[in-house]
Amino acid sequence: MNIIVVVDENWNIGRDGGLLVHLPGDLKYFKEKTLGKTVVVGRKTLESFPGSKPLPGRRNIVLTRKERYKPEGCETCASKEELTRLLGNDTKDVFICGGQNVYGQFLEECDRYFVTKIYAAFDADRSFPELDSRQDLEIVWKSDTQEENGINYQFFEYKRK
Ligand SMILES: NC(=O)c1ccc[n+]([C@@H]2O[C@H](COP(=O)([O-])OP(=O)(O)OC[C@H]3O[C@@H](n4cnc5c(N)ncnc54)[C@H](OP(=O)(O)O)[C@@H]3O)[C@@H](O)[C@H]2O)c1
Repeated sequence: MNIIVVVDENWNIGRDGGLLVHLPGDLKYFKEKTLGKTVVVGRKTLESFPGSKPLPGRRNIVLTRKERYKPEGCETCASKEELTRLLGNDTKDVFICGGQNVYGQFLEECDRYFVTKIYAAFDADRSFPELDSRQDLEIVWKSDTQEENGINYQFFEYKRK
């Protein structure tokens, strides 16, 4: 199972229900990585997407405890256990896509982490656990530094050793 996330230099990820900054190159990377795969999001992250719509071309699974919440084009799960049953054993192509609440619950179950690091700091109210001091993870790939609208960022792939 995979995690994909974009963080700022303090490992912050969101503010006021949205992302910290608009980076088209990162959205393109996210699409390339997840197209044709399964994406798992919390209800609040689904509601942060344009029109609260699922991501096209992907199997969208939304975690929610609201019984009557059945967004079109999404499967819903009311617990981690239900999700585990729904996914079965083959989780190689499953991407946990946030937000903070959901990342926290699946951090230790994932073995690959696609992290976009933005080299800037933003005011934020949501964050992601810092990975660089973890001895059980290693960086297996990184891109060149990208630049968009004066903001530098870089793609990293961490793997469990
Ligand atoms: N930088 C990034 O890469 C990135 C990626 C994604 C999101 N974000 C940001 O993160 C923020 C949203 O994160 P968040 O922590 O507030 O919310 P979230 O994780 O997106 O959603 C939380 C909701 O998910 C449901 N949920 C969580 N765990 C569940 C479980 N085990 N079983 C059933 N339902 C469960 C609950 O929904 P109900 O209340 O409906 O029960 C809960 O309120 C936004 O600012 C967003 O833009 C950033």
